[in-house]
Amino acid sequence: MNVPFLDLKRQYEQIRTEAEQNVSDVLQSTGYIGGKYVREFEQACEGYLGISHAHGCSNGTDALVLALRACGVRPGDEVITTPFTFFATAEAVASIGAVPVFVDVRESDYNIDPDLIEAAISDKTKAVLPVHIFGAPCDMDKINGIAKAHGLYVIEDAAQAFGSGYKERKAGALGDIGCFSFYPTKNLGGCGDGGMVVTDDERLSTALLAFKEHGAGMNGAKTKGWLEGVEELPETDEKQTELYNPYKYFNYLIGYNSRLDALQTAVLSVKLKHLDEYNSNRSRIAAKYMNALTEKVIRPKYGNDIMPCWHQFVIRSSFKKELCAYLSENGIGNGTFYPVPLHKQKAFDKTNARISGQNGSLPMAERLAAETVCLPVFPEMTEEEVNAVIDTVNRFYAERA
Ligand SMILES: Cc1ncc(COP(=O)(O)O)c(C=O)c1O
Repeated sequence: MNVPFLDLKRQYEQIRTEAEQNVSDVLQSTGYIGGKYVREFEQACEGYLGISHAHGCSNGTDALVLALRACGVRPGDEVITTPFTFFATAEAVASIGAVPVFVDVRESDYNIDPDLIEAAISDKTKAVLPVHIFGAPCDMDKINGIAKAHGLYVIEDAAQAFGSGYKERKAGALGDIGCFSFYPTKNLGGCGDGGMVVTDDERLSTALLAFKEHGAGMNGAKTKGWLEGVEELPETDEKQTELYNPYKYFNYLIGYNSRLDALQTAVLSVKLKHLDEYNSNRSRIAAKYMNALTEKVIRPKYGNDIMPCWHQFVIRSSFKKELCAYLSENGIGNGTFYPVPLHKQKAFDKTNARISGQNGSLPMAERLAAETVCLPVFPEMTEEEVNAVIDTVNRFYAERA
């Protein structure tokens, strides 16, 4: 039996009528930028995540850049993050001239090891950027505690974790700013690129709005003042009248054009209503893998406070290459996230990144990169497909015994 790694068509067929109606409404309204659909989707996300401010943006990479800029991260500042993540996490840091400082990850959950963070803090450190890898939240109480003690911002890369839970709260709403991606393969995925930044902090919310809209207007004026330590609004050369708002036509910061399209929200708003059901289907499949895969398979271990959204189900094998080939030969889709830890990426070197730890190496990230194999896990998988994955993996190990 062939089992795809992911089949977006099945989900689309389930929501087709409502999604196409919404898309058609947006097209006919000609309100392609901003407007009702975008704001309603942002409000729905605020409600779902239990957070006061959610702002759509162009993609998850932009979300990270906006968050870093809103926190006042500048060229030369250091940002502590994980090397075991998608490239965009550290790329966002380096793209604004700041320096990613890589700290090794934990064997159990593949997330940044909070016990190694403190040693990586320097007088240049401005923020910690944990990634809830594969949808499993990091040890956020510890990370927030360390950040608070050192006056650092916490920016969550929750690109893979929409709907994941940590204690009673949702991933993305655990630090100062949460960043999401709506890339189509994500748990909450659009029909193109999209992203979101969320925060409970009024000032950071204003700064995020400022940076995503060219540093313009009152938001830009206020943010410029805050970043420069000035509370009053900057002077404008022109007088405000009843009809004329000089702030509106001035740009105070070099920002970005980063918007979430109305067409994306037409689809995302339908999927958001089903997200809990999608994620609980993923959890059911993951539970079945956990129970039925042979004990030779090394699985992730998550604490009781962690409710992963199972963006990926990632096992480890010292026969990674052979296992992937065997799965492929037997028609089972598979992936190998992430085969190159970020400190080994050609784009990062001593000039734009720093490795924390002895001998300049990050042994656990390197080991995971060599061993991780992702099995198919998507909400619409059938029972037969899940069984076929389990049987094939178990057969592989039985044949090697
Ligand atoms: C952990 C992580 N961070 C950031 C991103 C970047 O998101 P996007 O592709 O929407 O820019 C992704 C997804 O691709 C991701 O998985």
